[in-house]
Amino acid sequence: MKRVTLTEIFLHPITQKYLKRSGVAHAIATAYHAYRLALQYGVDVDLATKAALLHDIGHYEWYSNGKWDYEKYKQNDIHAIKGAARAHKLLIRLGEHPHHAKEIALAILLHTDSYLPEGELKRKPLQMVVKLADEADEEPGGKHHYRQIDDKLALKKIQKLDEMVEKQMMMQKLDKIV
Ligand SMILES: [Fe+2]
Repeated sequence: MKRVTLTEIFLHPITQKYLKRSGVAHAIATAYHAYRLALQYGVDVDLATKAALLHDIGHYEWYSNGKWDYEKYKQNDIHAIKGAARAHKLLIRLGEHPHHAKEIALAILLHTDSYLPEGELKRKPLQMVVKLADEADEEPGGKHHYRQIDDKLALKKIQKLDEMVEKQMMMQKLDKIV
């Protein structure tokens, strides 16, 4: 089965539409953090970078009279649920393995605590890596959602990350053979 690349995912119109809403720069930075953290925790880099890239695609625009309404957002937001479903649909459509699509969707679903019931949630390593990667790029007041990045540079960074992921995957395969 051919790997679905980050580049394919990134360039898909669905991804473009929703990442422009929640911040392309934040999504890419989170994917790079996820790469680093995945290596640190022995997590699959392919799954971690995909989940991180897509973790915020479930955001809705909460505007009141043309202005961003943070209170409305806090009260009504379900972006992790929406994002998990959206990412899952997109990945399946692009030909991702159904089991991988599920793991990625679950990591997106659990990347934030904001509306989960009180109590300790035991996250799987992949889910923890995506949460930590998101937090590593967070800025006070949600500023990370508004950081800008040039389209060409964004694509270059994604292509570079694909190369890094594929190299890792190849090395892991070799490790298994030797
Ligand atoms: Fe985020």
